[in-house]
Amino acid sequence: MTSLPKQVRLVEVSPRDGLQNEKRPVAIEDRLRLIDDLGAAGLRYIEAGSFVSPQWVPQMAGSDELFARLSRRPGITYAALTPNMRGFEAALAAGIEEVAVFAAASESFSQKNINCSIAESLDRFAPVIEAAGQHGIRVRGYVSCVLGCPYEGEIRPQQVMPVARDLYQAGCYEVSLGDTIGVGTAGTTRRLFETVAREVPRAQLAGHFHDTYGQALANIYASLLEDIAVFDSSVAGLGGCPYASGASGNVASEDVLYLLDGLGVETGIDLDRLIQAGVRICNVLGRDNGSRVARARLASSTPACS
Ligand code: HMG
Ligand code: MG
Repeated sequence: MTSLPKQVRLVEVSPRDGLQNEKRPVAIEDRLRLIDDLGAAGLRYIEAGSFVSPQWVPQMAGSDELFARLSRRPGITYAALTPNMRGFEAALAAGIEEVAVFAAASESFSQKNINCSIAESLDRFAPVIEAAGQHGIRVRGYVSCVLGCPYEGEIRPQQVMPVARDLYQAGCYEVSLGDTIGVGTAGTTRRLFETVAREVPRAQLAGHFHDTYGQALANIYASLLEDIAVFDSSVAGLGGCPYASGASGNVASEDVLYLLDGLGVETGIDLDRLIQAGVRICNVLGRDNGSRVARARLASSTPACS
């Protein structure tokens, strides 16, 4: 059998990618509670908020207050998105130790999401990455629409590769490849990583799968076969992107953990506590739980009707 990574790091994006897509803003108190529940479950990397324009994404307003009030657990990285220097300066003032910049493999998506071309976005990120380096802050990079775009349709791996390479060469220590609209398959995922890995080492790549077509777990397994060992996921499958209509939530963290546990891959995360975190935030949001594993576990712990 092909060998799989022995350990995987899960990047929990629900407080950012999950909540940014909610119709109504979520109270800071509830955002903080979610982040703390995730830390208690053993997540070691939590994307907690976003320093973007509140006109563009009102749900992430108040991320400065959130970071000011966050009670940090030791050993956990709490990160945030910063699309430009304005966002980076706000993140720095909030005492952040890691930030993320986000580009796209599609010109149209780049315009809709951050109001500039791909090349302009990379120019904007350069001073952010430089300033971050001066302050000892690590920068993660995202590339969106790596397997398809809501405006342009098919995206080829050859379009993704230069954007991922430029982010890596600019100083991002890791580049997360995002299937923003969840159209990828195990086959296209493998070809994507094979291609991008010619320019960015596999240990510096991550997978970020939305589950619109129900392929995310298959795509994660395909990525494991490509020796990718970092995946972004969201408790209860919360999420989506305000600039990719119809994109469903991220793959549910509980479901990814169940897959990894079954493969004997270490993560350090406790499934029961993770399920509890998902249940609590779903109750706050008045939403159904998007994790199949959580739903199955909760149903089996409910006494059968007589
Ligand atoms: P813009 O309008 O071109 O920016 O937006 P601007 O520089 O012209 O500034 C316009 C106004 O916004 C000014 O305010 C700025 O001060 C303010 P005014 O003078 O008019 O009062 N502004 C800011 N305010 C707060 N924080 C900032 C900031 N920057 C400017 N950082 C901008 C450009 C990038 C700011 C905007 O397009 C934006 O905020 N976009 C965010 C989009 C976003 O958050 N999308 C979701 C996250 S990405 C995602 O979900 C994909 C991912 O999950 C991977 C995947 O699934 O593919 C990562
Ligand atoms: Mg996303």
